[in-house]
Amino acid sequence: MANQTKKTLVIVTHPNLNSSRINKRLTEELLIHEEVTVHLLYEAYPDEQIDVEKERQLLENYDRIVLQFPFYWYSAPYLLKKWLDKVWGSGWAYGPGGNKLEGKELRLAISTGGVREAYQAGGFHQYSYSELLRPFQASANRVKMLYKPSFEISGVREVNDEALEKLAKKYAEFVTQPFLIVVES
Ligand SMILES: Cc1cc2nc3c(=O)[nH]c(=O)nc-3n(C[C@H](O)[C@H](O)[C@H](O)COP(=O)(O)O)c2cc1C
Repeated sequence: MANQTKKTLVIVTHPNLNSSRINKRLTEELLIHEEVTVHLLYEAYPDEQIDVEKERQLLENYDRIVLQFPFYWYSAPYLLKKWLDKVWGSGWAYGPGGNKLEGKELRLAISTGGVREAYQAGGFHQYSYSELLRPFQASANRVKMLYKPSFEISGVREVNDEALEKLAKKYAEFVTQPFLIVVES
């Protein structure tokens, strides 16, 4: 793979993508882009037993990683935490000989029930997305990844079908054109 432009890997973590509205539509949109690999974590591991070696090999083939998930209790659904705990291990992601993620780009793509204005000091949720997503940023720093701006869809109940179509297109741009920053609610 040396000298070859590597593609983008999007890891979608949704415990029930079939009954999802937002993440399902975003995922469908990505599937039409050949340069993007979509990896559905819950679907790959219905028994939640993550194949660590397989995941590491997958990650090593990509320069850009996007973690896409619905915001659950101000974080990701739990299988993504398990994936981080198991896959980003010592000797591979950090520690002696652990440099396999170094220099790769990490981005997040989240959907939230709460509206954007609620995610600020004084707002209903009090904290901004950047503050709440800090563990991902700190983890990226720890393994020397380049943490980049996120894609956020806020107030999902207020997002009508027409708006969702536009957001899906913008999301595809966010994933396929990493230098273009699109953050929408
Ligand atoms: C278990 C659970 C926890 C949730 N926690 C939050 C939360 O902390 N903040 C928030 O804004 N929305 C929260 N929500 C709403 C989801 O983020 C929202 O339903 C999801 O983004 C919609 O995407 P989907 O259509 O792909 O499922 C939660 C939903 C569930 C089921």
